[in-house]
Amino acid sequence: MWPNESFIKLVGIELPIIQAPMAGAALSDMVVAVSEAGGLGSLACALLSVEQARKELETIRRGTFLPINANFFCHRPPRDDNAREMSWRRRLDPYYDQLQIDASVSIPASARAPFDDRMCDLVMEFHPEVVSFHFGLPDKNLLLRVRGAGAKILSSATSVDEARWLEDQGCDAIIAQGFEAGGHRRMFLTEDVPTQVGTMALVPQVVDAVKVPVIASGGIADARGILAAFALGAAAVQIGTAYLHCPEAQISPIHRQALIDGKDNGTAITNVFTGRPARAIVNRLMREIGPMSDEAPEFPLAAATLAPLRAKSEMAGSADFTPMWSGQAAHLARELPAAELTKQLAVGALENLRLLKTVARAA
Ligand SMILES: Cc1cc2nc3c(=O)[nH]c(=O)nc-3n(C[C@H](O)[C@H](O)[C@H](O)COP(=O)(O)O)c2cc1C
Repeated sequence: MWPNESFIKLVGIELPIIQAPMAGAALSDMVVAVSEAGGLGSLACALLSVEQARKELETIRRGTFLPINANFFCHRPPRDDNAREMSWRRRLDPYYDQLQIDASVSIPASARAPFDDRMCDLVMEFHPEVVSFHFGLPDKNLLLRVRGAGAKILSSATSVDEARWLEDQGCDAIIAQGFEAGGHRRMFLTEDVPTQVGTMALVPQVVDAVKVPVIASGGIADARGILAAFALGAAAVQIGTAYLHCPEAQISPIHRQALIDGKDNGTAITNVFTGRPARAIVNRLMREIGPMSDEAPEFPLAAATLAPLRAKSEMAGSADFTPMWSGQAAHLARELPAAELTKQLAVGALENLRLLKTVARAA
C-alpha cells in the first residue's frame, strides 16, 4: 500500500508516521494516542528524571500494547568553564535587573542528562520496541544493552557522513533531519550550523548512501510533505511541530498561540536557550542577544542561567525568555487530537498517492 514498507515492517506498525519525541512537550497521552492510531508514539526522556520516565512508561504500557519509541539524549556532558559561565551571567545581568531578580540566587543545574545505566535499566524493564537517540549514540556497552532488550535502534543524521557513521555503528534505521526541523539540530560530527542541509536535499542523498530505512524529518506537517518524503525515497516520516498543535501537547498557551500565528519565516536557529543550536520562534532574547551567541555556555548549561528569567516573565504572561521550539512548517498544521491527526495525515498521503498514480497513468 505504501511505496516503501521497510520501516513499518521493521517496527511492526501500520502507518509510516513517527510522532517526534519532544522533550517537555509530548508525554504518555500523546504517545498512546499516536501508537493506538497506528503510528509510532515517542516518549522523550531527556527532561524526565528516572522516576518520572518510569511513571510515563507505566502509563504508556497500560494504554497500549502497540510499539512505542523511547528517546534519549546522548550528548557529551559539558566541561567546566567558569569564565564562559561568568560572561554569560554578565550578558544576562541587565535582564535580571529589569525583572528584579536577585542575581546572586543559586541556580539548579539543567535537567537534560545524557542516557546512562539507570535509564538503560528502564529500557530493559519496559522493552520499548524502538529506542531513538538524539546527538549521535551512547557508548558501546549501553548500546549493547539496548540491543539486548530487543529494541530497534534509531538515531538522526544531518549529513551523509553522519548517516554512514550511524549505519556503521549498527543503527536499524536513520532519521534524516533537515534544516527546517523544529528543536535541536542533531548534528554530532560537526557543529557547522550554516552548512546544514534542507530535508529536500538531504533525504535522497542519505537514501543513496545507506542500506537501512531512512525516515524523513523536518518541515513535514501535512499529507503533501509525507508524499514528498516517499518520493525522495524515505520509508517513513518523523513529525514534530505539527503535533505541538494537538491538545495533548504540553506547551504553554503563549507557545500554542505563537504556533498558530506562526509564519514560514518566523523561526530561526538559535543557541541562546540551551547552548546548542535549535530552531525556535523568534522572540525578544533571540533578537537581542542572538540568535547565535559565542557567549552561550556549552549545552545544556545556558538553560540553567536563563531559568529564573523565563519563570518570572512567563508568570507575567510573556514569552520573552521562553524557547518556543518550532519548525518552519508550523503554519501548515491544524489543531486536532493526536490520534485524529495521525490518521488524517496517513489518509491524506494515500489519497494524494492514488491521485498521482492516476495522473501518471493518464499522461
Ligand atoms: C518542541 C520540540 C522538542 C523536541 N525534542 C526532541 C527530543 O527530546 N528528542 C529528539 O530526538 N528530538 C526532539 N525534537 C526534534 C524532533 O525529533 C524532530 O526532528 C523535528 O521536530 C522535526 O521537524 P518538524 O518540527 O519540522 O516536524 C524536538 C522538536 C520540537 C519541535
